[in-house]
Amino acid sequence: MSGYDGPAMARHFLSVDDLDTPELSTLLDRSAAVKASPRDVADRLAGTAVAMIFEKPSTRTRVSFEVAISSTGGHPLALSSAELQLGRGETIEDTGRVLSRYVDAIVLRTFGQDRLEGLARTATVPIVNALSDLEHPCQCLADLLTIREHKGNLAGLVFAYVGDGNNVAHSLLLGGAKMGMAVRVATPPGYEPIPQVVERAAEIGRTTGGSVEVLHDPATACSGADVLYTDVWASMGQEAETAERARVFGPYRIDQAAVDLAKPDCIVLHCLPAHRGQEITDEVIDGPHSVVWDQAENRLHTQKALLLWLMDRD
Ligand code: CP
Ligand code: NVA
Repeated sequence: MSGYDGPAMARHFLSVDDLDTPELSTLLDRSAAVKASPRDVADRLAGTAVAMIFEKPSTRTRVSFEVAISSTGGHPLALSSAELQLGRGETIEDTGRVLSRYVDAIVLRTFGQDRLEGLARTATVPIVNALSDLEHPCQCLADLLTIREHKGNLAGLVFAYVGDGNNVAHSLLLGGAKMGMAVRVATPPGYEPIPQVVERAAEIGRTTGGSVEVLHDPATACSGADVLYTDVWASMGQEAETAERARVFGPYRIDQAAVDLAKPDCIVLHCLPAHRGQEITDEVIDGPHSVVWDQAENRLHTQKALLLWLMDRD
């Protein structure tokens, strides 16, 4: 914990792009080690406190972070913005200044990426993006670990994301490209991932052997894929668009026909929560290709490894 309000020196995790390929690879190795031997890290965060601020709902992120912190000896504080002075207009920057005097890291789930950046500007402790409108980098760590566990490697895999070009898609584009995967994203016209992320992922891919393709045909994306991935059609904050999106996204679902187009040994991921019958069918999420529960579990292990690394306690 810093004793002064000087320039932020801490390492943050606001985007998958905050890690280079060797760091990402090492973090996945450490996550696997933590998963294999959780007792080895049981007291590694002893004497620390981590604040988690949620400006949107959460099941997996909140519980997995809380357990990750407490089971490594740290003290988690789960806070909703409504019960903080943030809800009454205190700035995120001032919140960062103050919380840095009490805690050793801050986890934030929010809307705009600018709120995470504002917090990182003034906080003197590591800041973790627990989902923003732009990215969901912690989810991506668990996704990559899960794929690696089931496929043995990441480089060269054909990864097909079908659905909305959203926060989850953005982090997967960056993470997949960093790990040398061929990332295909199929969205309805008008719902593509933002060009800055696509261009950055393509740039990364040129150095790792990975590649990026943005398509509008879900069947082309799924054909011959090793990994199929989908997410909700309407993200948190887009509730008013739910009906319109349900109309537009109909063909952008992972159903048995999509699985049949992929490789026979393909795996299916979904960050959850799932809207069964919309972006994924019961048959697929409950079927033999689905690894979604392993994927959800891996949030716990990857976040332990992430916190130990950010807090310099590996
Ligand atoms: N996947 C995920 O982040 O789930 P929660 O919204 O439940 O945290
Ligand atoms: N794209 C979804 C992910 C939920 C974990 C959302 O932002 O709501």
